[in-house]
Amino acid sequence: RFAYVNGLYLRHAEAVVHVEDRGYQFADGVYEVCEIRNGRLIDEALHMARLERSLRELRITMPMSLPALGVVMREVVRRNRVREGLVYLQVTRGVAPRNHLFPAEGTPPSIVVTAKSAPSRAGDSKAEKGVSVISVPDNRWERVDIKTVSLLPNVLAKQAAKEAGAYEAWFVDADGMVTEGSSTNAWIVTADGKLVTRPAESGILRGITRTVLFEVAKAAGYRIEERPFSIAEAQAAREAFFTAATAVVMPVVELDGKPIANGAPGTIATELRRRFHEFAA
Ligand code: PDD
Repeated sequence: RFAYVNGLYLRHAEAVVHVEDRGYQFADGVYEVCEIRNGRLIDEALHMARLERSLRELRITMPMSLPALGVVMREVVRRNRVREGLVYLQVTRGVAPRNHLFPAEGTPPSIVVTAKSAPSRAGDSKAEKGVSVISVPDNRWERVDIKTVSLLPNVLAKQAAKEAGAYEAWFVDADGMVTEGSSTNAWIVTADGKLVTRPAESGILRGITRTVLFEVAKAAGYRIEERPFSIAEAQAAREAFFTAATAVVMPVVELDGKPIANGAPGTIATELRRRFHEFAA
């Protein structure tokens, strides 16, 4: 395997960054995860636009032009011979002696790009069964709209899910409303077939899969309601699911130990999962 690190394509086992990288010391950086299908990057332009926004919000310099970044991502995919999988891209504020203040102007940002195969069949078999979710208090900072590598609450939530025998954790805000998953956006389907997901204006990352699923769902004739929902509403919902580049559309069949509907993956979630890649293709 190969990884791109600051201008070089290195063997994966030897791809390292400096001990004084600000990503390592302060989690002072941002990232993107892009799905690869049939060797192609899915929704690349939307991921690149979000990367630019995350960098701008944190005042980190764009490490290279978008076209150059596209070339690097494709080269990493090619060198790793990935047909179905994921590209990971991380940009940090660079390497400088440890100091909370931004480094001197002109300090180049660090950039890392990796790619790995994750055959879609694995995700598909998970989706055929559906997954369990637990809820955890949302104890993250207010800028979850920025896709930063500062993910400690997300790490702890996902681990708590695993230790509870679940696959994902949904964060719940102080008002008892679901914000999003540890690395996914949360959705439910109402009794009359409406899709409900939280507005991207507060408490969540604006997922690219979420954005594209709006189009997919509308084209398939579904109505979407952007509003917060509670765990109790989700447990009583007709269906629940979550979205992310790593999960596409994943049916949720159990929430805090209670089965959703009959405990089988929902037909609408399953249909949207199928339609998602037809739409992107
Ligand atoms: N996570 N919400 C959070 C907190 C996320 O970390 C992610 C993505 C999403 C979904 O965004 P998208 O549809 O653009 O993947 C929502 C990536 C996949 C990760 O951390 O692995």
